[in-house]
Amino acid sequence: KKRINIAIDGPAGAGKSTVARQVADYLSFLYIDTGAMYRALTYKAIEREIDLENGPLLKELLNETIIDLKVGEEEQHVFLDNKDVTTDIRSYNVTNNVSFVARQSEVREEMVKRQKVLADKGGVVMDGRDIGTHVLPNSELKVFLIASVEERASRRYKELIDKGIEADYNTIKDEIALRDKRDTEREVAPLVKADDASEIDTTSMTISEVVDCILQLAKERS
Ligand code: C5P
Repeated sequence: KKRINIAIDGPAGAGKSTVARQVADYLSFLYIDTGAMYRALTYKAIEREIDLENGPLLKELLNETIIDLKVGEEEQHVFLDNKDVTTDIRSYNVTNNVSFVARQSEVREEMVKRQKVLADKGGVVMDGRDIGTHVLPNSELKVFLIASVEERASRRYKELIDKGIEADYNTIKDEIALRDKRDTEREVAPLVKADDASEIDTTSMTISEVVDCILQLAKERS
């Protein structure tokens, strides 16, 4: 029997990747972080000093770019042209520029094509912004994760402080709100809940509560 696909969408910092990875682990499914793919391309474009709003040029760059997502012990590893860029793509510069690259239709078209191939055989948990609406519109389970911007900012703040990285709560909050605005208001495949997605507000939930909730839904849809 073909295994189901699970689409998880939502705004920045709603806990998508943590939750998606744990759900995938539990089900022995493959976890695919589509944000990492947009981040990898953005990283490469910045290195090459390519105009981040030039869709056709970015598409050309993407055509000669290999992005691999590999399962690691603790985290997923991201390889850009066979180089491990797992940490590089989380940089401040990439984070605050990725939305410009991600709103180019030429870029999205190719990314969506690659993502569909990855989910072709089923058994995938994929997270992003347009998975339920564009990448896997026929997936058996769609989840839309939300949380207040304050909660998302304080989670991110804590994450950074725990890693020993200096951070300012208000700056983080403003940056998250700005990235949401760009992702929600863009013309191509904006961040929006699919009509048939189950919305989960994680503001006052623990990670394991969210994971359990999704596993329950997955059981019902399998
Ligand atoms: O998920 P993450 O925060 O790493 O995503 C980084 C950025 O990539 C998002 O802010 C968004 O601009 C873009 N993205 C997207 N579509 C996806 C996943 C990510 O446009 N499916």
